[in-house]
Amino acid sequence: MPAFKELVFSGVQPTGNLHLGNYLGAIKRFVTMQAQYDCLYCVVDLHAITVWQDPAELTRQIREVTAAFLAAGIDPARSVVFNQSQVPQHAELAWIFNCVARLGWLNRMTQFKEKAGKDRENASVGLYDYPVLMAADILAYRATHVPVGEDQKQHLELTRDIAQKFNNDFAGAIAEQGHGEAFFPTTEPLIGGPAARVMSLRDGTKKMSKSDPSDYSRINLTDDADGIAQKVRKAKTDAEPLPSETAGLEKRPEADNLVGIFAALNDVSREDVLRDYGGAQFSAFKGALVDLAVAKLGPIGAEMQRLVADPGHIDAVLANGAARAEAIAAPNIAAVKDIVGFARRR
Ligand code: TYM
Repeated sequence: MPAFKELVFSGVQPTGNLHLGNYLGAIKRFVTMQAQYDCLYCVVDLHAITVWQDPAELTRQIREVTAAFLAAGIDPARSVVFNQSQVPQHAELAWIFNCVARLGWLNRMTQFKEKAGKDRENASVGLYDYPVLMAADILAYRATHVPVGEDQKQHLELTRDIAQKFNNDFAGAIAEQGHGEAFFPTTEPLIGGPAARVMSLRDGTKKMSKSDPSDYSRINLTDDADGIAQKVRKAKTDAEPLPSETAGLEKRPEADNLVGIFAALNDVSREDVLRDYGGAQFSAFKGALVDLAVAKLGPIGAEMQRLVADPGHIDAVLANGAARAEAIAAPNIAAVKDIVGFARRR
């Protein structure tokens, strides 16, 4: 495999409130990656419309996710922050990938099955095709590393399959046109840390999600201190005190979740948390968790509010990011078109 320039890409949908799972599983880690990699962080509005979005609300949410990126510490001077629909190469490459990906591959995608539910015939074609667009997002930049939460693992496997099939199907043209053995890299998913899968505060066996009807199931990045405190205090637990070792968290999904959240917020491991709180009752641990969550999330929520009050500034950040993103994607897509054999406009 030839060496590809290391590049990070990830995306977040502008649909509904961003929650602690989005923050700990993805956005907080995006911030850390900036020290090591060149990064592109995308507000994926094309993905958002795979289910109905009110237009005015969509515009608001695009700005809100951008504000969350900036408030969390993504530096738009260093990283490329943009929204997907401003860079036409995503949709263009998705079409070519539609002709590479196989129906059988998409039929295995569990997220489509969950999201479409029983009314599958009435789901949009876009919802079914969603993972192909995701592969296009990543590969338009030939990104090598993708930080995500665990729920995106299957989509990233599909991305690798699409890259590999493209590289194989067009191996002759790829070599002839001077790209060596492979045009697309084998993308590395970066899934990890104590909060790769943050669970609902009401049910430790269900993922924390924007679509859960109960707002008590999640902590939103825009929740104030009282809201955070109430939700943590009401979070489901069991009757035992916390164990001293992580083995003691097995079969205790709610305890495991709260310990994982504490660890991720504090940049430590579950082991470290249990060293300090092993034997503690939940009432005491929850008090410490409220203080920690308010201390870490409060400033982000406040900064988001300040930023969304100035949409002109956010729009300027997005415009600048889109121009920089397009400067990377455009030559890649031009090369893809040559590889596929489309006649260029001359
Ligand atoms: P989205 O918008 O649903 O979620 C954004 C990020 O948050 C992570 N996440 C979680 N992590 C831990 N625990 C949870 N409960 C939790 N819930 C969500 C997600 O894994 C994700 O990293 N398909 C993507 C968006 C996307 C994308 C991409 C990501 C589009 N193109 C290309 C990476 C690369 C999505 O719907 O994420």
